[in-house]
Amino acid sequence: MRQAKGIAKPKVMISEKALNERLDQLAAEIERDYADSERLICIGVLKGSVFFLVDLLKRVRMPLVVDFFQTSSYGTSTKRGEVRIRKDVDVAIAGADVLLIEDIVDTGYTLRTILELLRFRGAKSVRLCALLDKAEAREVDVPIDYAGFTIENQFVVGYGLDYAEYYRNLPYIGVLDEADIED
Ligand code: IMP
Ligand code: MG
Repeated sequence: MRQAKGIAKPKVMISEKALNERLDQLAAEIERDYADSERLICIGVLKGSVFFLVDLLKRVRMPLVVDFFQTSSYGTSTKRGEVRIRKDVDVAIAGADVLLIEDIVDTGYTLRTILELLRFRGAKSVRLCALLDKAEAREVDVPIDYAGFTIENQFVVGYGLDYAEYYRNLPYIGVLDEADIED
């Protein structure tokens, strides 16, 4: 890919081929587990989950509804654990099987908040599908029902994940050199 000025090229951590193979497996599991569902709502968390959600759900051959949340944490750090819903879903949740689709579970605060909200609204079931699991970084426990890859506690970009809003369109998961990340 052509690089914008001052934008470093990340090293490949998970290749496009490995992502595609894992997505085939995850989609097959989801299809099997929800075969008897009467109403399946798949909800992505904007913006990071978009690339993953689209590629995954194109492989799931059954009727389903797609919607999105957008969240942001108060202040600059998610560590405080207070998460704000900036965009809510448009559809009613009560009685539906909800599959929440996330790019990465890091501290777990974002997901915990959303999972609680979905249960409060009366979902019949709530499960979580996350492409990446940064297990070591977890501060609150959130069970991942469908996990793509467990990765080390380092900052990754690509396939929806950004650094300062760049890199989302990389077709693979990459790691930036420490020197290219400003804290
Ligand atoms: P949480 O800490 O589990 O609440 O994660 C919140 C959000 O931080 C995730 O949904 C991602 O959007 C973002 N995030 C966490 N780790 C990374 C990373 O390594 N690269 C890019 N974004 C990340
Ligand atoms: Mg996210």
